[in-house]
Amino acid sequence: MAENQSPPAGPDLALGVAPGDFKGDMLLGHVGQQDVLLVRSGSEIFAIDAHCSHYHGPLADGLVTGHDIRCPWHHACFDLRTGEAVRAPALSPLSVWKVEQRDGRIFVLQKQAPPMAKKAPSDAPKRIVIVGGGAAGFAAAEMLRREGYGGEVTMLSNDSAPPVDRPNLSKDYLAGNAPEDWVPLRPDSFYAESKIDLKLSTNVASIDVKARHVALADGKIVPFDRLLLATGAEPVRLPIPGADQKHVHTLRSLDDCRAIIAVAKGAKRAIVIGASFIGLEAAAALRAREIEVHVVAPEQRPMERILGPDMGDFVRALHEEHGVIFHLGDTVASIDGKRATLKSGGRLEADLVVVGVGVRPRLALAEQAGLSIDRGVTVDAHLETSAPGIYAAGDIARWPDPHSQENIRVEHWVVAERQGQTAARNMLGAREAFDAVPFFWSQHYDVPINYVGHAEKWDEIAIDGDIKGRDCVLRYKQKGRVLAVASIYRDVDSLKAEVAMEKA
Ligand SMILES: Cc1cc2nc3c(=O)[nH]c(=O)nc-3n(C[C@H](O)[C@H](O)[C@H](O)COP(=O)(O)OP(=O)(O)OC[C@H]3O[C@@H](n4cnc5c(N)ncnc54)[C@H](O)[C@@H]3O)c2cc1C
Ligand code: FES
Repeated sequence: MAENQSPPAGPDLALGVAPGDFKGDMLLGHVGQQDVLLVRSGSEIFAIDAHCSHYHGPLADGLVTGHDIRCPWHHACFDLRTGEAVRAPALSPLSVWKVEQRDGRIFVLQKQAPPMAKKAPSDAPKRIVIVGGGAAGFAAAEMLRREGYGGEVTMLSNDSAPPVDRPNLSKDYLAGNAPEDWVPLRPDSFYAESKIDLKLSTNVASIDVKARHVALADGKIVPFDRLLLATGAEPVRLPIPGADQKHVHTLRSLDDCRAIIAVAKGAKRAIVIGASFIGLEAAAALRAREIEVHVVAPEQRPMERILGPDMGDFVRALHEEHGVIFHLGDTVASIDGKRATLKSGGRLEADLVVVGVGVRPRLALAEQAGLSIDRGVTVDAHLETSAPGIYAAGDIARWPDPHSQENIRVEHWVVAERQGQTAARNMLGAREAFDAVPFFWSQHYDVPINYVGHAEKWDEIAIDGDIKGRDCVLRYKQKGRVLAVASIYRDVDSLKAEVAMEKA
């Protein structure tokens, strides 16, 4: 992501600092032109890149837990000893510097050599097939190679684009504020270099569980020893007259996003149907393009079901401040050319319609293969489906979440990536339980909302701080137990809540 252009921060760590210069666990300084963070963990001191390899988040504002540091923005986690990105969404390691303590001072020396490559177990399977080129599928493929797996990795995706940073498609990229090269998760050359056989525009038609192969739509057979299903979700389409017109779009893939941008370039007015996260992020992005935006949605308050009434009111007011016009408690009954007729009888004219009314997990393959299904593909704690050797991760997977003590399925980028990573290690024989606390973020203009945990219902929301002042933590509780925490600009509180839920 963007390189840090500002002058290097703090003291020159190569010249040495005193232990008393630390404020808390961390001290931000530089070595040459590079920002470096000194981190104290018990009696040890580490020196690591000061910015996260995901979106350059300032690690000095993060949280140190044992030998790890967590990023304040989207909760990536790095090993202080090796720099490895041990938890998504960051995937690339950070540089780590050698540290020397002498004469009562701490000196940062040269960069440490990267850690030795890992070696996968000798009895690892020969052929691993991944269906899906999204968050979970990509993170799994990348992790297989990181773990030193040398066997065949085939990734089958019916998308025409290599894996992309999907969250950006409703944020900066859609708004026109992010260059095209932010969108791919890795450059095209990565797949050949990593010996990942990425087959794009390739639709998997069926799975033969007994014969251990998948069949492609063109009839080709791809055998596997282990299979990861990561087919994600697809946008719900509206069953209303006119929803199939060219200017009516859903948003999931890079192609979808490019199609919206192409229309947006000449558009004066847009209708966003649905006040979901994606709908409202798209509304914000279209406002950045100075398009008049009308949001039509049946609920009385946006996001109330997930974030509660106060945050819902805040989100609505925030969008209104930016000129979005809401038509709540209403739906679009039909679209005839540029004219949309609302159920209430009202009419709106628009050059562009974006439908953001939720998604449905893509379960057809799992159903056809006879895997256990329960509003998602049922997996155990190791993310294995009811068919041994076949795993599922991401938006399709319903797993036993140890924190909520329920079987849950969520649609979060970070969860999909982390599940892909756990599934990868388990396909190599690790038998690791997936126990990460769910996390998602959403961005509306300059306001990020972070959410840890999982609360489908609650009996109390404890509000700490000021929602309107954009400085708040909301705790969603059931019988006194905190199930989830939403926050705005309280990143350390959000990280602390995550740690507390991990320990609970
Ligand atoms: C615009 C947008 C913005 C988002 N923003 C956020 C955000 O800010 N924060 C957040 O937490 N979450 C966000 N999400 C949700 C997040 O992107 C998803 O939870 C995540 O992508 C799920 O990962 P996945 O791997 O399960 O599925 P996906 O990323 O959807 O990948 C599924 C893959 O499977 C392929 N596939 C499906 N069926 C087949 C088949 N039969 N054969 C071959 N290939 C197949 C698809 O082509 C695709 O490559 C956003 C989603 C969208 C669409
Ligand atoms: S910027 Fe660090 S996790 Fe996103």
